[in-house]
Amino acid sequence: MAGDFSDRDGLIWFDGEIVEWRDAKIHILSHGLHYASSVFEGERAYNGNIFLCHEHSERFIRSAQLIDMEMPYTADELDSAKKEILKANNLKDAYMRPVAWRGSEELGISAQKTKTHVAIACWEWPSYFGEEAREKGISIKTSKWRAPMPDTATTNSKAAGLYATHTMSKHAAEADGYTDALMLDYRGLVAELTGANLFMIKDGKIKTPNPDCFLDGLTRQTVIKLAAKEGFDLDVCQISVDELMEADEVFATGTAAEVTAIGKIDDTEFKVGPITRQLRDAYEALVRS
Ligand SMILES: Cc1ncc(COP(=O)(O)O)c(C=O)c1O
Repeated sequence: MAGDFSDRDGLIWFDGEIVEWRDAKIHILSHGLHYASSVFEGERAYNGNIFLCHEHSERFIRSAQLIDMEMPYTADELDSAKKEILKANNLKDAYMRPVAWRGSEELGISAQKTKTHVAIACWEWPSYFGEEAREKGISIKTSKWRAPMPDTATTNSKAAGLYATHTMSKHAAEADGYTDALMLDYRGLVAELTGANLFMIKDGKIKTPNPDCFLDGLTRQTVIKLAAKEGFDLDVCQISVDELMEADEVFATGTAAEVTAIGKIDDTEFKVGPITRQLRDAYEALVRS
């Protein structure tokens, strides 16, 4: 589905009602738009089943709590709403985007009187990085922006406000011909991509950074379990840029990205190796099981 996201066919779940896609509108004086009081989720449905549906609903609620915003629905209610809108759109393989934001009931820094509004959209979205990335891997460029210290931002949330730096980083990478940006953390250690987590492999051992100042992705958690099941050694640890550049294989994980090989970081090239392929196959089998 290409084109402007506001001008599409379909249905959107909006504050408990199902509305026409083009009618899912909010006022420009919504608090969420001015002060980034907004959180969202990214989920995928495979063959009609939303992968980790309940876990995503729980994280959605947690993200809202982290920015001091009350979520008016329970995780079970959100699960039902997601299933309802997926079915109403007659979709089986889809990307799902729940979003919650403070409304226009009050506009100022203090938002005590605002209501939290919730909408859920879904649409067909086959591959985040495109099919070519499967064989060659994506290219990423180190961003000048860093993942913030955990006491300066709600780093383990999907709060909209955190993504301004991610968009700037991705734009800078794209301007230089790269697919995505590599975000370092406030210490200069390897953190993540702009919408995905990162793993490296050296001498058969898998390593991934400790998510102490960035999102501990659900795909990341799934891949860690899959790696154990497949018998790999895996370390959650600090990773320096120098260590990353010496890796045999590097890959990214995310709901949208799934398991995607990284073929180039700055000027260093990496091959799409056997462990990446094995974990990618295991992940693809799991989400469709
Ligand atoms: C900044 C960031 N990091 C990591 C991830 C991966 O998280 P998940 O695997 O839960 O989709 C995402 C995607 O949601 C993200 O936006």
